[in-house]
Amino acid sequence: MELLKRPRRLRGTELMRKMVRETRMSQESLIYPMFVVEGSRKKEEISSMEGQFRYSVDQMPYELERAAKAGVNHILLFGIPDRKDEVGSQAYAEDGIVQRALREAKRQFPDLQYITDVCMCEYTSHGHCGILCRKDVENDRTLEYLQKIALSHVQAGADMVAPSDMMDGRVRAIRGILDQNGYENVPILSYAVKYASGFYGPFRDAAESAPAFGDRQTYQMDFHNSREGIREAILDVEEGADIVMVKPAMSYLDMVSKVREAVKVPVAAYSVSGEYAMVKAASKNNWIDEEKIMCEMAVAAYRAGAQIYISYYAKELAKCMTEGKIG
Ligand code: PBG
Repeated sequence: MELLKRPRRLRGTELMRKMVRETRMSQESLIYPMFVVEGSRKKEEISSMEGQFRYSVDQMPYELERAAKAGVNHILLFGIPDRKDEVGSQAYAEDGIVQRALREAKRQFPDLQYITDVCMCEYTSHGHCGILCRKDVENDRTLEYLQKIALSHVQAGADMVAPSDMMDGRVRAIRGILDQNGYENVPILSYAVKYASGFYGPFRDAAESAPAFGDRQTYQMDFHNSREGIREAILDVEEGADIVMVKPAMSYLDMVSKVREAVKVPVAAYSVSGEYAMVKAASKNNWIDEEKIMCEMAVAAYRAGAQIYISYYAKELAKCMTEGKIG
């Protein structure tokens, strides 16, 4: 057999394989989402997301410590209030759940970086991501509220804000209010390419944020569309987004690749609750190997072009990276 080119030559040993690896990752690029809830002494497991919990503010620091020990330095905070109303006023209250969690987190673990999800769906009685006019979410009125929410997060200590509502013009609006208040150096990580997805199911369970009627298709994107996602990413960058996100991750890696080419800011991929829940459920039945699948999913996102990866498996992934299993 006269074969000049044998790709297997570079796969012969582990040393060789590691040398020619194309995708290198670091735990520095991992973001860990966490849920904080009102009350005290609470660590409630989320039934559809085994291993993930809702922490009261007094319990949260223990988990922050575990994250920091694992080498995960970036936290994405979600709040679950105990009072909801039409306009989601607890989302921007000075003593709201995220605001209090931030102050405590900053006091105890000032070296971690805190990113907050800026949205209204966990805080509104109707569960939609904005202010309603009859049955529709009113874009421009919602922007005023998103500004208030983002500003209140930053005033409470957020290092970065992440608007996830998908209203038009929200990045510009938030950039404006932050700048007016002297926070021109606080970056915006926008959920730029966010699809209306069934993969968020377990999250809505966790955050008690399922819409009371209808769905989110008038603001989140139709999953048939790809050019529209590029348009959204470009718009957000024009409006001042510092980092853009594609969400979900696993079934949307084409968008991660395309967005990476289309814009020159860092790209993040969010492996969402449904992805986590599927891996958990299948591995619990011994149908798949949890660690292998979790690692493959993460590496695939980086390979597609993500620079930052948001995952409920962040601590476990950091460990795999440290041990040299991936990256
Ligand atoms: C808030 C928000 C959602 C997620 C992140 N921010 C839910 C939604 O849009 O319905 C989903 C995250 C996940 O599923 O892990 N709008």
